Amino acid sequence: MNAAQSQAPVFSIPVENARDFACNNLLIDDFPLSLAQTRDKSVMAKLTEQASLFFVDMIPEIKRQLDNPFVGIVAIDVPQVFDDATVDAIVGSLIAVSLTQAIMPSLPDRENNTPFSIFTASKDNSKKQDHVGIRGLSPTDVLDFHSDGAITNGKLSVPDYISIFNVFINYRDRGNFYWVPTCTIQSLSQIVEKVGLSQEYCFSLTPAVYDNGQSSVKIVDRRARAAIFTRAPDGSITTFMNGTFEGHADTGTDQAKDITTEIKGAIAANPVRYLIPQESRRLIILNNANGFHARDIFENPMEGYAVTRTYLRSASISGKVVGRIIEG
Ligand SMILES: [Fe+2]
Repeated sequence: MNAAQSQAPVFSIPVENARDFACNNLLIDDFPLSLAQTRDKSVMAKLTEQASLFFVDMIPEIKRQLDNPFVGIVAIDVPQVFDDATVDAIVGSLIAVSLTQAIMPSLPDRENNTPFSIFTASKDNSKKQDHVGIRGLSPTDVLDFHSDGAITNGKLSVPDYISIFNVFINYRDRGNFYWVPTCTIQSLSQIVEKVGLSQEYCFSLTPAVYDNGQSSVKIVDRRARAAIFTRAPDGSITTFMNGTFEGHADTGTDQAKDITTEIKGAIAANPVRYLIPQESRRLIILNNANGFHARDIFENPMEGYAVTRTYLRSASISGKVVGRIIEG
């Protein structure tokens, strides 16, 4: 990558602040709430309200950076609060989930009904995914620049915000997360002109994979018909790019390759690019409707850990419908 790269805004929750929040809201008789309890709407509403109060000093600035079209991404570090590693991992995750909900109320996970989806990568399930030929999901794959989609009732939307919280990354070389704000892409207007606003294209979406801890991984494979560029009510352009691009929905696939190459080339060569080093206990929130993200692969797994990475991902309820599912 050879664009000029700027470090994205990184916030740190002060340790005292995190401890106060945890002691007041996350412990019952010295035991932390479980992550599963966040599916209870009244529990989550209380945690969200408390997070809005405890983290009131940082939330307005986080929102300001996220809604600045020239920035659109932030990282927030969650400090260690307790000595016990397991308790601390749960508490750290609950702090991240509560803060996320105070910033971007999220769609419930389809399977668990929690306001986040949890993904666990292990040497074992990376092997299973390799075996069924899935790319882009195990931690050692290279991800291209893309935006994330969400599916509700057969409709495909671009969630306004996405959050990713790395509970832990057991790799020595963790690389960076990258972000390119749409409005900084100089050739965008020419590309939009060529591709068209609200013109539908076909995509094979990056499959969702659920590891249920059993011998097989559950794979959800979908095809969608969606617009790459849509004019949002506020005048900004919502972008969607995910999975394998198959071409214009009505005129066939002839120009598919050229358009994808041109858009991805323009993003990769963009003079403005933000980066965030990928670290455990780091929450990343991005304005998914206004930019594209990618990340480095993880390398050199640490010895002695069966689980190589656990992360939580949330997609905001607010979003823009850009298409529909046609298969899967
Ligand atoms: Fe993504």
